[in-house]
Amino acid sequence: MSIVKRKAKVDYPCSLLLTILILNSMIGRYVTHPLTLRRIACMRRKVSFRLASTQLSVQQEESPKEKRRKRFIEQKGLPKAVDRGQFATTYRPFDGHSFQALSGLPPNLQNFTVLGIESSCDDTGAAVVRSDGTILGEALASQSHIHAPWGGVVPGLAKEAHEAEIDRIVQEALEAAGMTSAADVDAIGVTVGPGLEICLRVGATKARALAIEYQKPFVGVHHLEAHILMARLPYDSASKQLEFPFLALLVSGGHCQLLKCTGIGDMAVLGGTFDDSLGEAYDKTARLLGLPVGGGGGPVVERLAREGDPTTIPLSVPLQSRKDLDFSYSGLKSNVRRVAERLAKEQGVETPADLSHSIKANIAASFQHVAIQHVEQRLRRAMILLEEKENIRSLALVGGVAANQVLRTRIEGLCRKRSWDLWIPPPRLCTDQGTMSAWAAVERMRVQSTDDPTIPDVYARYPFAQKL
Ligand code: KG4
Ligand code: ZN
Repeated sequence: MSIVKRKAKVDYPCSLLLTILILNSMIGRYVTHPLTLRRIACMRRKVSFRLASTQLSVQQEESPKEKRRKRFIEQKGLPKAVDRGQFATTYRPFDGHSFQALSGLPPNLQNFTVLGIESSCDDTGAAVVRSDGTILGEALASQSHIHAPWGGVVPGLAKEAHEAEIDRIVQEALEAAGMTSAADVDAIGVTVGPGLEICLRVGATKARALAIEYQKPFVGVHHLEAHILMARLPYDSASKQLEFPFLALLVSGGHCQLLKCTGIGDMAVLGGTFDDSLGEAYDKTARLLGLPVGGGGGPVVERLAREGDPTTIPLSVPLQSRKDLDFSYSGLKSNVRRVAERLAKEQGVETPADLSHSIKANIAASFQHVAIQHVEQRLRRAMILLEEKENIRSLALVGGVAANQVLRTRIEGLCRKRSWDLWIPPPRLCTDQGTMSAWAAVERMRVQSTDDPTIPDVYARYPFAQKL
């Protein structure tokens, strides 16, 4: 469509210019008079617009819904998660048809061990996981005490802390698994994106060096896929494993997405956020109320909300006029701020952080209630879509915010009502840690997919490949 549009615009002015030149030479100065030129330019705009819009109506009949979506996107920009991949390397661990093991595969694909490393944001994690899902050893260095005074993650400090801890954490995980060095594992996996580039680099450099030194198969793990695949880790041998295809609701600090997951490396984003993620909304509410944030404000807001009444403060559920699968949390954030500032004024205190404990608890509870209502509305719509169109009735609830007990309970209720099966990792495995990298690498190796450890890239943005 755009090529046709440009053609109509380019051809027309050329012929117009030619006409002006001929007329000019014939009747002298009249045509080059500024007013006449303005009239011609105006005519040109109208004609090219008409040509372009004719092409539009012939080639693409847009539904009113699609028009509304386009108008909204023009105003607010594309949802973060609906990233078409034009600005970053696309995650495509396969050539479209088959998988490739660039750095080889473990000799015995039935029973192998993987060392996983994670450093995409503010926690340095490592773990050794066996291919049957047994976690043999884990180690995690939290940075929340480093970031707490700043009210959020400071990338430079996070990088320095990763550098200071990475060797110790890897060694600790290996020793917890009864191993002495990376020579004892069968493969190595590490998060290579998306995340904070300078932080990703610390883990990736360590993992690549180990893979090269010990000649081990290597997997560059996609962080969001790793979160999602945590719902497939066999937590106990008695329960059945989550099978593809399934719907995933990924709610973390960096992302808020609904995805249709059909296989390893095969995740289609159905909806994403236009602004903040759910985790960010929790973090900003914590900051507004003067609660300690550190590595994330979610747990403190959840704790405080337990003491509050969610019905005391009326807040609007976001995006009520848009019946689709996208999210938006910046409006709710501003709504909470306005209410909190009004209450601070009424109570004669300077800022919302100075409000009494019980008022803050009511704000936290009301925020959490509405934030989850937004999730429920979007999720219910995705469930209806997938059960009708694809007969999918399995949901994975993953990402850091999936550790939230209220969210877990409410999504459980929704699944029960719609007869869906639900998989949620245990809370401590919802947030970032090394096991997710190790398990994602196990899953990639099972489909014969590994990467070249000599390529040093990491990807701050790393969108899933869209279906061809
Ligand atoms: O997955 P994650 O560890 O890191 C990213 O990949 O972003 O998620 C971190 C986010 C933070 O925003 C944190 O506040 C939120 O998850 N979070 C929670 C809870 N635990 C962590 N949010 C609400 N309730 C919780 N219990
Ligand atoms: Zn994460």
